[in-house]
Amino acid sequence: MQEKLTFQISKANELAPNDRLELIELCTAAYEEAFDHLFDSLPDSTHIIARLGNEIVSHAAWVTRWLQPEGVPELRTAYIEAVATLPRYQGQGFGSAVMRKLVPLINDYELGALSPSYSAFYARLGWELWQGSLFIRTAAGLVASPADEEVMIMRLPQTPALDLRAALSAEWRAGELW
Ligand SMILES: CC(C)(COP(=O)(O)OP(=O)(O)OC[C@H]1O[C@@H](n2cnc3c(N)ncnc32)[C@H](O)[C@@H]1OP(=O)(O)O)[C@@H](O)C(=O)NCCC(=O)NCCS
Repeated sequence: MQEKLTFQISKANELAPNDRLELIELCTAAYEEAFDHLFDSLPDSTHIIARLGNEIVSHAAWVTRWLQPEGVPELRTAYIEAVATLPRYQGQGFGSAVMRKLVPLINDYELGALSPSYSAFYARLGWELWQGSLFIRTAAGLVASPADEEVMIMRLPQTPALDLRAALSAEWRAGELW
C-alpha cells in the first residue's frame, strides 16, 4: 500500500458539500448503481474516508442499529454500510485499511455488524458470518429475512458471549432492511 493514504473520520453533518458529492460518486462507481440516497438512507451516519493526496479513494460508514441475538438483550450495534473503493484503486489494500481503521472507532458499541456482498473480504479481517436465522422486528412481530441474506459481526470489547447459531433480529428500517 502507498504511504500517502490519510484518513478522515466525520459525522455526515460535518462533511463538506464537496466531500459529500465525492462520496456519492465513489459509491456510485464502486457499486455500479446510483447512490444519490447515500446520506438520506443513513441517518446520523459516521464516515471514514481514505484519501490519496486530495482524492477520496475508499470509504465506509456506520449507523447505530439495535441487533438482538435470541436470548440476549438488544445490542447497541455499529452497522457498517457503503464500504467502497474507487474501481481503479481496488485490490491495493485500501478497503482493508479502512475496515481495520474502523473497528477501534466503534469500540464503544456492543457489536459491529454488516451485510456483506463478499464475505471473504471481511472474514479475513476478523468478521464472522452469523449462522442463525435472520429476522426483522416489526409492529406485527418478527418477519423472517430471505435465506440468502447474510450478516457478519465483529466482536467488540463490550460484546457479550454470543451463539452465532441463534436467531438474530434487527429493528425495521426504511430501505435496505439489512
Ligand atoms: C469490496 C471493496 C470495498 C474492497 O476494496 P479494496 O480496496 O479493493 O479491498 P482490498 O484491496 O483491501 O482487498 C481486496 C480483497 O477483497 C476481496 N474482494 C474484493 N472485491 C471482490 C470481489 N468482487 N469478489 C471477491 N472478492 C473480492 C478479495 O479477497 C481481495 O483480495 P486480494 O487482494 O487477495 O485479491 C471493493 O472491491 C469495492 O468497492 N467493491 C464494490 C462495492 C462493494 O460491493 N462493496 C461492498 C462489499 S461487501
